[in-house]
Amino acid sequence: MTQDELKTLVGQAALQYVVPGEIVGVGTGSTVNKFIEALASIKDQVPGAVSSSEASTARLKALGIPVFEANDVGELSVYIDGADEIDAKGHMIKGGGAALTREKIVAAQSRRFVCIADESKLVKALGAFPLPVEVIPMAAARLTRQFQAMGAEAKIRLKDGAPLVTDNGQHILDVTGLQIEDPLGFENQVNQWPGVVTVGVFAHQKAQVCLLGTADGVKTLSF
Ligand code: 5RP
Repeated sequence: MTQDELKTLVGQAALQYVVPGEIVGVGTGSTVNKFIEALASIKDQVPGAVSSSEASTARLKALGIPVFEANDVGELSVYIDGADEIDAKGHMIKGGGAALTREKIVAAQSRRFVCIADESKLVKALGAFPLPVEVIPMAAARLTRQFQAMGAEAKIRLKDGAPLVTDNGQHILDVTGLQIEDPLGFENQVNQWPGVVTVGVFAHQKAQVCLLGTADGVKTLSF
């Protein structure tokens, strides 16, 4: 099976976690795009979605799925999103699509995080994927030095030769050379640094379930 087919498989499998009559939290990325397509097939069963990015909002609306503001709704029963890496406890690296801040906000507003991913995303320890950190632009150089002091290397993410600007008007540092053995401690530590908007380690907002696309079908991991 191709990676694209695995993404379709887990995107469709995630429908079983959508609670009829309830608004669903929707993440961002190529795997979630498959979920959004699947969600469109049952759109009459849900009032709509809270979205984690302008990109997902546009896709949801294009398929006729109403999008609600996070501030206008209460706790959500479920948040469905992909990951760049996920470990055996449900901790993740996210933000490859630069949507990490809103993803963490919608995840925090949801009772259950269901991660959908192909099996290449399952890792023993987080850190091989460059860690996205959304930062206030004026802090980028100092934060780069703080990561250097940890033995890592941080680079501003570029788009068309200029710093990428997130949906929140900020920049992204991609950090390589990390081995994140204590995801919760690492997230706590980096969250303290002035100028950090969101660190792409999801340990506080970890997944409770992962639907992993494998050659043998969808494997369900519960954490
Ligand atoms: C976007 C994300 C995505 O969930 C992550 O990058 C995985 O994306 P994909 O499903 O395209 O592999 O965190 O900010």
